[in-house]
Amino acid sequence: MATSKNKSRRRFVVRNSGIHGKGVFALSHIPKGTRLIEYKGQRLTEAQVDRRYAKDDNPHTFLFALDDGMVIDATTHGNSARWINHSCAPNCEAVDDKDRIYIETLRAIRPGEELSYNYGIELEERHTPALKRLYQCRCGARSCKGTILSVKKK
Ligand SMILES: C[S@@+](CC[C@H](N)C(=O)[O-])C[C@H]1O[C@@H](n2cnc3c(N)ncnc32)[C@H](O)[C@@H]1O
Ligand SMILES: [Zn+2]
Repeated sequence: MATSKNKSRRRFVVRNSGIHGKGVFALSHIPKGTRLIEYKGQRLTEAQVDRRYAKDDNPHTFLFALDDGMVIDATTHGNSARWINHSCAPNCEAVDDKDRIYIETLRAIRPGEELSYNYGIELEERHTPALKRLYQCRCGARSCKGTILSVKKK
């Protein structure tokens, strides 16, 4: 049962975002370097993801790609972390700790601020102007790059 003590410990809440759809917002002051939540979901290989989303050309996903080639699909068994939007000037980062992904604060966060991290999405194909538009970023940061896609590492 939820007690008032439990409620007062909630550090963030999911609600509608000005960036896109739903987002996650701080309920209290959160210090820099706080581990907030694990990005949970079903672990799939890239081939399984390709099969699952073969007919889907919508860039909206709940997928988190790991360095080892596996992908976390938060559509299944996901938690609130899946609602965190991308920002070009993020206040959080996604940290890989023994193949598990945690969202941690990069700086102190004020109550009401939307939590965000840099998705760092790199597609296999060339990031053409059309693809960049498809992945248009609406983070609103002064330093917004206009796209959620990252600069490709050579
Ligand atoms: C994991 S979901 C995040 C939650 C999302 N707001 C929702 O309501 O489903 C990721 C998707 O949200 C959208 N999104 C996240 N950050 C965005 C941003 N800065 N600008 C535009 N769309 C964004 C993109 O469609 C992205 O594929
Ligand atoms: Zn942006």
